[in-house]
Formats: sequence, structure tokens, C-alpha cells
Amino acid sequence: MPPAYPIIDHTYDVVVVGAGGAGMRAALGATTAGLKTACISKVYPTRSHTVSAQGGIAAALGNMNDDDWRWHMYDTVKGSDWLGDQDAIEYMCSNAIPAVIELEHFGVPFSRTEDGRIYQRPFGGHMTDYGDGDPARRACAAADRTGHAIVHTLYQRCLKNNAEFFVEYFALDLIMDDEGVCRGVIAWNLDDGSIHRFRAHIVILATGGYGRTYFWCTSAHTCTGDGNAMVLRAGLPLQDMEFIQFHPTGIYGAGCLVTEGARGEGGYVTNSEGERFMERYAPHAKDLASRDVVSRAMTTEMREGRGCGPNKEYILLHLEHLDPKVLHLRLPGISETVRIFANVDVTRGPIPIVPTVHYNMGGIPTNYHGEALRPTPDNPDAVVPGLMAVGEAACVSVHGANRLGCNSLVDILVFGRAAALRAAELVQPGMPHKPLPSNAGDEAIARLDAVRHAKGPRKTSEIRVEMQKTMQDNCAVFRTADVLRKGVDLIDRVHRSFADLGVADRSLIWNSDLAEALELENLLEQAVVALHSAQNRTESRGAHAREDYPERDDANWLKHTLAWLADGTVALDYRPVHLNTLSNEVPSFPPKVRVY
Ligand code: FUM
Repeated sequence: MPPAYPIIDHTYDVVVVGAGGAGMRAALGATTAGLKTACISKVYPTRSHTVSAQGGIAAALGNMNDDDWRWHMYDTVKGSDWLGDQDAIEYMCSNAIPAVIELEHFGVPFSRTEDGRIYQRPFGGHMTDYGDGDPARRACAAADRTGHAIVHTLYQRCLKNNAEFFVEYFALDLIMDDEGVCRGVIAWNLDDGSIHRFRAHIVILATGGYGRTYFWCTSAHTCTGDGNAMVLRAGLPLQDMEFIQFHPTGIYGAGCLVTEGARGEGGYVTNSEGERFMERYAPHAKDLASRDVVSRAMTTEMREGRGCGPNKEYILLHLEHLDPKVLHLRLPGISETVRIFANVDVTRGPIPIVPTVHYNMGGIPTNYHGEALRPTPDNPDAVVPGLMAVGEAACVSVHGANRLGCNSLVDILVFGRAAALRAAELVQPGMPHKPLPSNAGDEAIARLDAVRHAKGPRKTSEIRVEMQKTMQDNCAVFRTADVLRKGVDLIDRVHRSFADLGVADRSLIWNSDLAEALELENLLEQAVVALHSAQNRTESRGAHAREDYPERDDANWLKHTLAWLADGTVALDYRPVHLNTLSNEVPSFPPKVRVY
């Protein structure tokens, strides 16, 4: 018998889980299409992690130099180290321009050029002329608070259009029926402890990444990849989980992000000898090479004894040569963050920085409509009816093995909108729902109850720090078979130790002890599949740099990893990369050597 928890039922056409940029853009699209739409979020919408996106949103507007969405597409394919699906990348880059214009019309307060157009700055890996020209000024910026501006605008827009928000509701699990159709989601209201069952024709997961599997990351504490874990527990796979991005410029000792826009405005990095070493690693793009390239270069400098500080464990980012007016106008947010967290005045001295976990390229496999996939040997693109995913939770895959900066904000908007358009094709407003299975939600409630009453000797914080250190030490910028093997053993052991968890607070009202335990369970499941996937991929591609397999191996590894998790055991398989484009407006880009 499932434990007795009264359930409050809701019925919607569409339920979006997550209220960051992707979730709110999807909710906005669905509600304006006349669909009854709920948006569930464990945090107040304007505290979603999109709010901390800094440097900009990529779109080839060409406001400040020549640009072309096809160049943007080429850069994204190259940035992905050819693991990105080119149909989806074409969709994203060709829709980026209208997506930004739409934001402008919604009221996003972009920075402006002298003649009133949207201000654009260079960003890593974005070049002109199919990689051969100068850096492209493609990042449309609202100073260095672009995500903040977008989230606030989208929230107002959603409210105006009657999207219904369930704020501080923690989604527990999907409701799947016997035919493998997603029928809704179960959530716990953190505020009053009640349990809610949301029935929907379509559930859109927009729950973000799982950066908090690591000890040092730029992600908010809420970035626990809850939707990804819900998908694993529903018996569905995650894709390309081994590809984890380190942002080159996290503040040493704090992990806070210093936007790549700082280098876009003219900043540069040096080693302990004062050398601008990026010229050796990326002679053309230099400090504006893609993130995986810069992170590896910095790590190599530190490993070879040219790191800064007494222990040679950081690199210096210089902005002090820039005009203070530029810093004040274009980079006010990071100027403040650096003062608080590094005690450095950016107008006077360099900033100590280290590569810091920033983004998950992997996630829930989807097509470019946002529909979640359940690949089979006969059909690698088979769709899970009723389930979609967008944003960092999804693996469309537009970022492949490495995401370019500013391509995340455009991803969330383009695919948030695409998911809503697809939902509007599939669902007529108010169409009847089939009855839910009689046991709908029982398993989720039983899991909640088990964690709530866990009486083991170990605290959430103890297990969490062990997981984070394991990931930090064994799934880092550079990887080897030995280190990954050790990591797999350790992470499996940490995962099993969740059975020893003890939760001290048994209440249901604002029980952060219980919420953090549930988040930890979600993180552990993703850490396990990420490490197993990393151990399995015996090549170097994008952010997955194997010292024992230093080359990209297209003959054997030009394919997406799929990972399932059942009873603590990981099963792996593959699906092909889409090398085809959507239209004849652009050629497909066959793999070639990737140099910057
Ligand atoms: O560096 C940044 O401003 C981050 C942008 C991004 O991850 O897209």
C-alpha cells in the first residue's frame, strides 16, 4: 500500500516544469496558442538560473560587422566538434535573428550602439566567413546581465498572457502509462506540504543542467538536473552525458562566473611569466577560441608550472588596461562580483581565474521540435508521446561535444518556442484527457516517503560533498582511463551510499533537508551516467579530452552516447549524429580538423 498522502489534482493541456528562459518561452508560446498552460517551478521564476547568464545571446544580426546565420551555423558545428545535429543547428541559427528581434519587441532592455541598434560583442568561437575571417560581433548583450533582462521580461509576458505559475513546487516524477505515454507529473508544494498531480497532454521539462554534481561550478545551488533524473527513473535514456563544459574564467576559490564577454571587450589571460599564452594554442582566435580549447590551455599552463600564485594554481585575466568607462558600461556586474569574491578592483589589477564547470551539453535526447526521444534499434528518432524537453535539460543536440558561449540563451528561446509550436500542433485547447492509471503517482509518493523517513547515519551534505569531489577529481578537463576507472568505482559507491541517508526533519512544510536529499538523489543518478559515459568514450572530442586517446576518432565515435540507469546499473548504447541539414539554404559541414 502506498503511504497516505492526500493528492490535489489539476488538469492542463500543457505543463511546463521549470521557469527559466526555456520554460517560460515554452509556457508563453503554449498559452498564447490558447492551450491551458501551467508552469511549475521549485524557485520563484525570476530566481531561475537563466537570470545569471551574463555575456549575451548569439544571433547574426550584423549590427556591428558583417554577419550571416550560415557562419553562425558553421561555427556552432565546428564548436560542437561535429557531434551536434546539423538539422537542429540550422534550425537554431536561422531562427536566432527573429528570436532576438522578438525579445526586443517584448521589451528586453538591450545595450545599444550609438545609432540605437542592439549592441553586439565578440564571443569565443564565433568568427566570420566560415571560420576564416575576424571574430564576429554576434553576442547581443544587455551589459553583462543579459539573462537577468530576459528572464524578467519573459515572466511579465507570461503573466500578461495568463500562464499559470505554481511557484515553489518541487516536481518529483513523471506519470507514465503502460503504453509509454507521459501523462503528467507529480509535485510537492514546498510551502504547505501538499502533493499535487498535474495531468497534461504534454509535459515540457525545462529543468536545467546538473552542474552541482561538481564541487566548483558557476551553476546555482538549484541546478540539480531534476528533469533528467525523472527521465532516467521513467526508464528513458539520457544522451552525451560525458560532455561537461568548463568555463575558462571562473573566479579562483569561489567559482563565480566572469563572463567571456570580458575577453570579448578586449580582456586577455596570462600565465606566471606574464605571457599571453593563448597565442600558442589558438594562433588565429587567441583568447577568443572556444571554451574547451581555452580551458585545456589554462590547465596545461598550470600543470607545466606556469600557473600563478604560491601554488601555481590559477591564471590571470586582465581587464585593467580597458577604459574604465567600458568596464562601467559593459561589464558592471562582473566588476562587482570580482570585487566581492576576489577582492580585486578590475580597473587596477588582474583577476585570478580557473576553468570551472559551467554547462552540460548532454541531457534528454530530443528532436528540433523539443519532443523527447526513446531511440530503438529500428528508429533512433522515435518520440516519447506526451514528453518534451528544452534548454539545458535537453540534448537537441545543438551543442554536441562543446557549446559556444551565447548559444545557450538562443537555444532556450528558439527551442522553447519550437516546443510550444509543436504542442499547438498536437493538442487542441481543452481536448479530453484519458483517465489516469489508478496508481498514477504512487511510486513517486513512495519514493518521497522513503527519503522523508530515511534513518541512516549519513547526512545529505556528507554524501553530496563526496559525489562532488569524485566528479571534480575524476571527470575533469583532462581524463585518462585510470582516473575514469577510479571515478566510476567511487561514484557507484557514493550512489549506493544513498541507502545510508538519514533525514532529520520529517515535516513537509519548507523542509529543505528533504528537498536537498531529493536533489542529491537526482544529482547522483546523473553523476553515475556521466562518469560511465566518459569512461566508455575512448576518443577526444570537444570537452571530453582523453589524454590516453588524444585524437578525435570519427570512424568509431561520430555518434551520440545513450545511457540508461536501472537498479544502479548503467546500460549504454548509441544513436547516429544528424549530419544532414534541414534545407538547401546551407550545405552540411563534413567533419574536418578543428583548429582556432
Ligand atoms: O561567459 C558568459 O557570459 C556565459 C555565457 C554562456 O554560457 O553562454
